[in-house]
Amino acid sequence: MKLIIGASGGVGQGLLTAWEQSQRVATYHQHHPAEPAGQSHLRWLPCNVLQPGWADDLLDAVGPDLPETIVLCTGLLHDADHQPEKSITRFDRDWFARSVATNTQPFGELAATVTTRARRDQAVTLAVISAKVGSISDNKLGGWYSYRASKAALNMLVRTTAIEWRHRLPQSTLLSLHPGTTDSRLSAPFQKRLPEGQLHSPDYTGQRLAQLIDNAQPKDSGDFLSWDGSLLPW
Ligand SMILES: NC(=O)c1ccc[n+]([C@@H]2O[C@H](COP(=O)([O-])OP(=O)(O)OC[C@H]3O[C@@H](n4cnc5c(N)ncnc54)[C@H](OP(=O)(O)O)[C@@H]3O)[C@@H](O)[C@H]2O)c1
Repeated sequence: MKLIIGASGGVGQGLLTAWEQSQRVATYHQHHPAEPAGQSHLRWLPCNVLQPGWADDLLDAVGPDLPETIVLCTGLLHDADHQPEKSITRFDRDWFARSVATNTQPFGELAATVTTRARRDQAVTLAVISAKVGSISDNKLGGWYSYRASKAALNMLVRTTAIEWRHRLPQSTLLSLHPGTTDSRLSAPFQKRLPEGQLHSPDYTGQRLAQLIDNAQPKDSGDFLSWDGSLLPW
């Protein structure tokens, strides 16, 4: 069974479609999706990753068995009052804290819960949607301070947990994935100046990420991968 957290967003929706033949549990927060007709192997659950204990509550609601694939697709780049900072002079402690609370902490909480619940002989794949702009060495453009920092910290949590899993859950795999620029509410304000062909549909992104996740092996655990399968620098 596949658990997609943040399936009401563009990337999550793409994964839901890519895996439409599989048993899926999908979560939403503020945007309750219309139930597609005839999808009996899809169950929607509400989930707010800012709620203390959310990961335990969600896995309890999913059922007694840990899903073999879990993907965390939630994220925050802007809201009605905040755009990504172009200058450090726009740094705002509350926005920074909210970016980390939404983009970084939920993975830590989910990974802790999965680590506690998984059996040593179990093969779980836990993937989180990160972003290439979270790469420190690839950062040539600057800007987007809170978002970049929250994704860099997320990548560190993934890498560090993967090292622990080598001993603790050697059959399981952790991935940090860059989805590529995907048409969604999150990317909508930044799509105008994109070169032709650089904006992927959610379905295309979903297909590419699903392929990476389905083919992932424990030897890949802790990798930071782009949608095309290339390894990204930290
Ligand atoms: N789109 C891109 O070009 C792009 C590029 C690089 C990285 N990413 C990353 O990809 C991931 C998905 O982004 P997207 O483009 O699909 O964005 P999106 O369409 O805005 O979706 C964001 C998802 O996060 C959920 N969410 C937000 N806050 C939440 C909360 N407190 N509790 C639970 N769920 C919450 C939303 O749920 P509701 O809508 O139901 O509230 C939605 O399902 C993010 O981590 C983003 O940083 C996207």
